[in-house]
Order: sequence, then C-alpha cells, then structure tokens
Amino acid sequence: MDAQITVINANRADVERVRSLRLAALADSPLDFASDGDETTWNASAWGDWLTIARAVWLAARDEQDVGLAALEDAWDEADACYVASVWVTPTARGIGVADALLEALIADASRRAARRLHLDVVATNTRARAFYQRHGFRTVGEARHTPRGTREIAMTRPLP
Ligand SMILES: CC(C)(COP(=O)(O)OP(=O)(O)OC[C@H]1O[C@@H](n2cnc3c(N)ncnc32)[C@H](O)[C@@H]1OP(=O)(O)O)[C@@H](O)C(=O)NCCC(=O)NCCS
Repeated sequence: MDAQITVINANRADVERVRSLRLAALADSPLDFASDGDETTWNASAWGDWLTIARAVWLAARDEQDVGLAALEDAWDEADACYVASVWVTPTARGIGVADALLEALIADASRRAARRLHLDVVATNTRARAFYQRHGFRTVGEARHTPRGTREIAMTRPLP
C-alpha cells in the first residue's frame, strides 16, 4: 500500500514536534538555511512563539511519523505576497511527494490570504531544492542575501492563481 502523507497546520500543542523537526533540519542541512543555529538554545516558549508569531508552520507525517516541515510568512515589503521558508524533508522521505504536499499546503494557505505571489530564497548551490522549486513554477529573479554561515542565496518567485 502507498505511504499515507498527511499535512497539518501546527499550533502550540505541536511545539515539541516542530522543535524536533526544525532541529533535525538544522543538523541535517545547516548550510541550506539562513540560521546561525541559535535555535538549539531556545526554550518551549520561544518555540511556541516561532511557530505562531509571523509565520504558519506546516508539518508532514508519513504513516504517522513526522517527516517534514515548511513555513509560510507574510512578505514584509509586499502586501499581496507571501514568503516560503524552512522547507525540509527527512532524507529517508525525499523523492516521494512529501515536499509536494507541504508546498501545496503553503500555496493553499497563501491563496486564502489573497496573496498573488510566493517568494523564497535558496542557497545557490542547492541544486536539488532549486529543481524542486522550478518544477513548482518558481523562477529565479536575482541574487538575495548571504546567510549567517556565508553561503549565497538566490531569490525565486512564482505567481499564484
Ligand atoms: C528541498 C527538499 C525539501 C525537496 O524535497 P524532495 O523530496 O527532495 O523533492 P523532490 O524529490 O520532489 O524533487 C527534487 C528534485 O531534484 C532532483 N534531484 C534529486 N537529487 C538531485 C541532485 N543531487 N542534484 C540535483 N537535482 C536533484 C529530483 O530529480 C527532483 O527533480 P524534479 O523536481 O525535476 O523531478 C529536500 O530535498 C530537502 O529537505 N533538502 C534539504 C533542505 C533544503 O534544501 N531545504 C530547502 C531550503 S530553501
């Protein structure tokens, strides 16, 4: 039987699941995120704030095991755009549609907020993530920032229906 993938919008009751997934993401792929790793020192209250203030966090599970997360933020400088962040799938669950399910949830969430565009930044050398985003209609629109770890990111964007 095909693995069952479910995606939910995390709330404060899910704080331990979110903390565990995000720390696993930073340990697995530290250079793929614009984080300095500070999260390892956060308490439960800080994690609760992270997942409810200024972003919506979506969790993916396969056969009831947590296998990925992604976050949607309002774009700070565009009223009708949202920003995709913190996308990660555990290595053993890649290539089977978990990332697709997470991105579909983010797109539906952004559309509910009446967003017309989705933006993201991705490390330039992250060819797998770039291929994934390109398949979902994102196009490179220029250089973004350097991360705290010194990697260079590019900016990608896609319209929403
Ligand atoms: C990015 C990520 C979420 C994508 O999830 P995934 O399950 O791996 O995605 P998919 O397998 O559906 O798509 C990956 C694409 O890269 C391709 N690919 C696989 N390995 C690759 C490699 N080594 N180099 C380049 N492309 C590769 C796949 O063929 C696929 O291409 P397609 O979309 O044209 O079919 C996941 O790889 C991940 O968590 N990576 C580490 C964290 C990360 O980079 N997050 C993004 C931060 S912006």
